[in-house]
Amino acid sequence: MTIATDVAALDIERIRTDFPALHQEAHGRPLVYLDNAATTQKPQAVIDAVSSFYERDCSNVHRGVHLLSQRATIAYEQARSTVKAHLGARDSREIVFTRSTTEGINLVASSFVRPRLGEGDEILISAMEHHSNIVPWQLLCEERGAVLRVISIDDNGDIILEEYEKLLSERTKIVALVHVSNALGTINPIRQMIKTAHSHGVPVLVDGAQAVPHLDVNVQELDCDFFVFSAHKVYGPTGIGALYGKREHLMEMVPYQGGGDMILSVSFEGSKFNEPPHRFEAGTPNIEGAIGLAAALDYVNRIGIDNISAHENGLLSAATDRVLAVPGVRLVGSARRRASVLGFVMEGVHPHDIGTILDSEGVAVRAGHHCAQPVMARYGVSATVRASFGLYNTTNEIDALVGGLTKVREVFG
Ligand SMILES: Cc1ncc(COP(=O)(O)O)c(C=O)c1O
Repeated sequence: MTIATDVAALDIERIRTDFPALHQEAHGRPLVYLDNAATTQKPQAVIDAVSSFYERDCSNVHRGVHLLSQRATIAYEQARSTVKAHLGARDSREIVFTRSTTEGINLVASSFVRPRLGEGDEILISAMEHHSNIVPWQLLCEERGAVLRVISIDDNGDIILEEYEKLLSERTKIVALVHVSNALGTINPIRQMIKTAHSHGVPVLVDGAQAVPHLDVNVQELDCDFFVFSAHKVYGPTGIGALYGKREHLMEMVPYQGGGDMILSVSFEGSKFNEPPHRFEAGTPNIEGAIGLAAALDYVNRIGIDNISAHENGLLSAATDRVLAVPGVRLVGSARRRASVLGFVMEGVHPHDIGTILDSEGVAVRAGHHCAQPVMARYGVSATVRASFGLYNTTNEIDALVGGLTKVREVFG
C-alpha cells in the first residue's frame, strides 16, 4: 500500500488550468481523465513550445548555416541538455533522442546486445514487462539461438528477488527491467537489482516509461547502463523519447540505422560514422518533439517531482480504499510500493463493459491487457480495468470513478 499524503499540497485547480484538454465534456459529463499510464494530457507550455518552433524557428538541424537552422539546432541540443539534467546523466552526449521507449529498447537490443549475444547466451527480464521489453528480446534470442529467462513475481506483484539472484550467470548478457510496472503499478527495487547484476558483471537496461512521470530518477545514482522513456507519458509530445546510455557503452556501439547525420563522411567505398549520440540519430530528427519534451520536463520541474509523487500517492491510496469497497472488486497488483496505477477486476463483469459504462459517465480508464499479456496470464485474467493518475487528478475525480463503478454494480447486479 502507498502512504496517504497531503493531497491538498499542490494547487491542483490552478494546475488544471494549464491543461486545455481537461476542460471538456465526454458524453455530456465533465471529462475525468484517468488513463495517464497510456498517455498524459499536455500543458499549454508544451503546446506553445511546439507551435513556437513551427511559427519561428522551423528549419532542419545540424546542417544549415542560416539563422533559422542555427536557432533550431540550438533548441534541439538544449533539449538534450534538459533531458541530461533531468535524468542526472554525466554528459549530454549520453542522451540519444528516439521515437519512444520501444525504439530505445530496440536500439539497445540491436546495437549493444546483438554483437555480444551467442548461442546459449541468456537475456533476463521480469514477468511484469510491457510487450516492448519482451518482444525485441524474443526476436534477438530467436536470431542468435539465445535464451530469454524470466524472473517470477509473487501474488502481490513483487519480483521474487531470491529467484533473480539465482538466474544471473556468466551466460547472462543483459538484464532488462521495468522500473514501474504499467499493469500493476509495482515500483521495483531497481537500484538494488542493478547492483546485483553488476556484481555478476551484467549490464542493465531500465524501462523507465512509467518511472519518469512519477519518480525522481537519477541514472548516476541508479548506476544503470541504459535507461529509456517516452515523452508522451510525462506531459510531452508523442513520437519522441530518449535513451540514456553510459558513454563507454555508446562509444563502442554499432549504428542502429543508416542515413544522414549519423555519418562523418560517406563514399562508395565506405562510410565513417559520427560520434554518439548523433551516430544513433539517422535522418532528420523529431525536432519539435525534442523541444516539446524539454518543455514538459521544465514544466514537471517547476511543480517538483516530489510534490507530484506525494499528490499521486495520496490519490492512489484514497482510490485503492474506495474502489476496493465496491462489492466484487479485486485488485490486480498490490505490491509493497506502487505508483499511480490501480488495476482491478470486478466479479461477473468484463473489464470492457466496466470501461464502457465508465466512459458513458465521462470517466476515461483503460480496459484490456495493457500490452502486458504475461501479467494477465500470471493473475489468471484476460484483462483488467486500469485507473492511472497524473499530477492534475483530484479527489472529486475519484468520486466520479467510484460513482461509475457503483453504477456498473447496479447494472450487472
Ligand atoms: C512500462 C512501459 N514500457 C514501455 C512502454 C512503451 O512505450 P511507448 O509505446 O511509448 O514506446 C509503455 C507504454 O505503455 C510502458 O508503460
